[in-house]
Amino acid sequence: MRIDLIGKTALVTGSTQGIGAAIAAGLARAGARVGINGRGEGSVAMAIERMDAERIGGRLMEGEVVAAPGDVSTDEGCERVLSALPHVDILVNNLGIFGATPALEITDDEWRRYFEVNVLAAVRLTRAYLPGMIERGWGRIQYIASDSAVAVPIEMIHYGMTKTALLAVSRGFAKAAAGSGVTVNSVIAGPTHTGGVEDFVYQLVDNDLPWEEAQRAFMREHRPQSLLQRLIEPEEIANMVVYLSSPLASATTGGAVRVDGGYVDAILP
Ligand SMILES: NC(=O)c1ccc[n+]([C@@H]2O[C@H](COP(=O)([O-])OP(=O)(O)OC[C@H]3O[C@@H](n4cnc5c(N)ncnc54)[C@H](OP(=O)(O)O)[C@@H]3O)[C@@H](O)[C@H]2O)c1
Repeated sequence: MRIDLIGKTALVTGSTQGIGAAIAAGLARAGARVGINGRGEGSVAMAIERMDAERIGGRLMEGEVVAAPGDVSTDEGCERVLSALPHVDILVNNLGIFGATPALEITDDEWRRYFEVNVLAAVRLTRAYLPGMIERGWGRIQYIASDSAVAVPIEMIHYGMTKTALLAVSRGFAKAAAGSGVTVNSVIAGPTHTGGVEDFVYQLVDNDLPWEEAQRAFMREHRPQSLLQRLIEPEEIANMVVYLSSPLASATTGGAVRVDGGYVDAILP
């Protein structure tokens, strides 16, 4: 399969690092013009510099990357992003915050903050970009969900709630786009090797182990339900997102597609 996104414009929220940065790089490698988003102009500029360095280093990146800074959990931040990228063909709602808090100690403010950052930001951007996609007869919208959507962790039920909500939001907007040429899906990502995760792993397993062994020990002892038995690399999530963003994925809509290493003990979705 050859994925060609030349001529398409994409926005990936929260793409200055981690899974978002890998998705942005994957879309750019397929030829899309990609908006890089984070809260500050500085972090966005640094991410673009890193991508340009990769390009020079030989990992072919066809598409242009452009700055689209703004805190998309606020109206003002969204407006900033919309003025940088008034129209997109591909919207990847990747932004998501997470953190552990005992279930009965999550305050009202925290519940609201999680909802505003992880759910409402994605809804607001969908509302802004979906009508244009429908009008043009082509578009791709994705929401990066998590195994926590269906296997809600006891230490992060506020996070799990937002990821379950994204599955409903995705299914609902797919109905709103029915028959238009626009597809809307969510991607259920499993435990992934992103910034901070290595430190977290070494807090739980023998510090002297090399990374490969350390992560396998971590998965075996602390994430035994994973069939992959290692952390997922951000590029492995990105590969699915790039495929779903492409014309090749034209018959996949309203779904929740898993890239979870078999973490969720279920056959469907
Ligand atoms: N990591 C995992 O194991 C895992 C597993 C399943 C699902 N996921 C999901 O995958 C997605 C990405 O996770 P990650 O671990 O790659 O994230 P991450 O490394 O923590 O990166 C977060 C990104 O979001 C940006 N950001 C934070 N708040 C923002 C805001 N209000 N507006 C705009 N940008 C903002 C940050 O940029 P600035 O600091 O520059 O603002 C950064 O680029 C999330 O939805 C997460 O729930 C992750």
